[in-house]
Amino acid sequence: MSRFRHLISIDDLSKDDIEYILKKADEFLEIAIKKKKLNLLEGKVLANLFYEPSTRTRMSFEVAMKRLGGDVINMGSVEATSIAKGESLADTIRVVENYADCIVLRHYREGAARFAAEISEVPIINAGDGAGQHPTQTLLDLYTIKRESKLERLKIALIGDLKYSRTIHSLVKALSLFNAEIYLVSPPSLRLPEDLMESAKCVETDLKQAIEEADVLYVTRIQKERFPDEEEYRKVAGSYKITAEMLRNSKAIVMHPLPRVDEISYDVDNLKNAIYFKQAFYGVPVRMAILSEVMG
Ligand code: NCD
Repeated sequence: MSRFRHLISIDDLSKDDIEYILKKADEFLEIAIKKKKLNLLEGKVLANLFYEPSTRTRMSFEVAMKRLGGDVINMGSVEATSIAKGESLADTIRVVENYADCIVLRHYREGAARFAAEISEVPIINAGDGAGQHPTQTLLDLYTIKRESKLERLKIALIGDLKYSRTIHSLVKALSLFNAEIYLVSPPSLRLPEDLMESAKCVETDLKQAIEEADVLYVTRIQKERFPDEEEYRKVAGSYKITAEMLRNSKAIVMHPLPRVDEISYDVDNLKNAIYFKQAFYGVPVRMAILSEVMG
């Protein structure tokens, strides 16, 4: 029996479930590093339904499924499908559930994944719903923290667009289960939503103090596409940037869900602190763990 049928929000998982997935990811790490293949999900098909752009999430789900011996079908870009003709999400789900054993869904509307799970005959994995949640990113973030830093008594700074970043929303909820101390650094108009601030041990601070105190700096892109108003975006664009100079005396590891725009300067890439590309790689063993749990 699997521990969960759908994966929609990090709230659907207990601390024990999360630790179980992270342990399972360890079992797949070697396969992912060596680019080998198992036959655990032979005969199974995963459908990728992405209504928003994606590089890492879509491709790492695809490679995770293939490393488990399964097959993948991709909807392709929205413009090339019947969605462009006006097909509803509900109708698309009802069609694709008959083609595949599991659906990975990314959608611009908050709540879309929950809605899909209510009508789908096959498991739905939320790969991001608007500014809502991105639970599989959080699992790979936690895996990265566990391997490269520590999950217990963690001090972590969340930097950037804390209002619209779904990776942040999921991560704060998960970090509260591990009792992390969270430093929040953002432009005033992009503060973390109040309910999330209350759900964990959060303090608002500035970049300098965050760099001095934290074990992990988790940097985010300003989510341009979520702003109702272009002018509001322009006011905050380029308002923070981590440089190698700022990290000169810091042991903190630097994470980023990627894509980066200009919030981490390229001279950080060569520092030992920079682990965002490794973080993106950890998406493979973690998503192998999730897929084998849901379909195994
Ligand atoms: C993030 C997303 O889509 O929410 N990307 C990702 O999945 N790694 C972050 C972002 O787009 O800024």
